[in-house]
Amino acid sequence: MAKPIMLTGFRPTGKLHLGHLHGNIMNMIGHQHQYDNYFFLVDWHALSTEYQNPKHIKKNLIDCLIDLIALGIDPQQTHLYRQSDIPEITELTLYFSMITPLPWLERCPTYKEQISQLQSKDLSTLGFLSYPVLMAADILIVNADMVPVGEDQLPHLEITREISRRFNHFYGPVFKEPQAMLSQSKRVMGTDGRKMSKSYGNAIFLTDSKEVIRKKTRMMITDPQRVRLKDPGHPDVCNIFDFYKIYRQNDLGSIGDRCKNAEIGCTQCKDELAETIYESLKDFQAKRSLLEKDMKKIYSILDRGKEEVRAVAKKTIAAVREKIGID
Ligand code: TRP
Ligand code: SF4
Repeated sequence: MAKPIMLTGFRPTGKLHLGHLHGNIMNMIGHQHQYDNYFFLVDWHALSTEYQNPKHIKKNLIDCLIDLIALGIDPQQTHLYRQSDIPEITELTLYFSMITPLPWLERCPTYKEQISQLQSKDLSTLGFLSYPVLMAADILIVNADMVPVGEDQLPHLEITREISRRFNHFYGPVFKEPQAMLSQSKRVMGTDGRKMSKSYGNAIFLTDSKEVIRKKTRMMITDPQRVRLKDPGHPDVCNIFDFYKIYRQNDLGSIGDRCKNAEIGCTQCKDELAETIYESLKDFQAKRSLLEKDMKKIYSILDRGKEEVRAVAKKTIAAVREKIGID
C-alpha cells in the first residue's frame, strides 16, 4: 500500500532559526521514512509580505534549502521543491478563490495578528488576505494526509479543510481533509519573549557562531523577580528555562533546582545555555559549509523535485477541471 502523504511548506525568509527547527522541521525529519514526503519553499507566500522588495527572496530560498539538506532532509526520501516551480498551484488557487467566502479569511486570527505586528508593511492586499487560499492549494494539489505545522498555522489548516469540503460538496469528491501534526515544542520564544521570528529581530539562527549565540542569550529576559544572585528564581516564568526544556530534558530537574535554590546566577545560566545550543548546531554548521560549495548539486535537487511534483500536480488539475466541467 502507498505510504500516506506528509507535506509541509516553508517560508524562505533567509537562514533558518531555532523556531523553525523546533517547529515543523524536526517533526518532518523524524518521520521521513514513514511517509511520502513533500517539503517545499513557499516563495509566493513570501511575496505576499515582501512584494515591495522581492529581490532577496531567491537568495533566501537557496540559503534555506541548504539549511534543510544540512539538517537531514534527504532528497532521496523527500520531494524537495520550490512553490513557484509548480504553476498548477496557482491554477488551483484560482479555483479555490472562487469558492472561498471572504469572512473565512477576514476572521482568520493569523491575518489580524500579522497586520498588527508588521505595521511597517502595507498588508491590505488581496494576495495577503488570500494567503490561506494559496496554502490550501499547496496542500491539496498533492492531496496530503498529514501536515506538520506549528500551532500558529492551525487556523490556516482549518481553512484548508473547509475549502476541501466545500469543493467536494460543489463538484464531487477530489480532495482529502488533511490533518495537522503538531510539533511537541510548539512556539519557540525569541530573545525578546515574543514568538521567534526573523521579522521581529529576535531569532537565534542555525548558522550563528558561538559568540553570537552567547550575545543573544545574554540579552534574554529571565525571571523579573530575580534581581540579586541570592534571590530564589522561578524557572517557570523564565524564557531561558523554556529553552532548557527543549535542550536538556535529561537534567532539567537539577537545572530548575539550582535556579530555585539560588545556586547559579542568570548570566552563568545563560552562558551554559548558549554553549548547549552551539554544541547542538556544530555538526550541522560543518555540513552546511560543504554544501554551500556545491551549488550544482543544490540546483539539481530542485530540478528533480519540480519534475516529481508537477507529475502529481498535473493529475490533480486534470481531475479538478473535469469535476468543474471546464476540461
Ligand atoms: N504558512 C506557512 C508558514 O508560514 C507556510 C506554508 C505555506 C505551509 N504553505 C504551506 C505550511 C503548506 C504547511 C503546508 O509557516
Ligand atoms: Fe532563568 Fe536560569 Fe536565571 Fe533561573 S537562573 S531565572 S532559569 S536564567
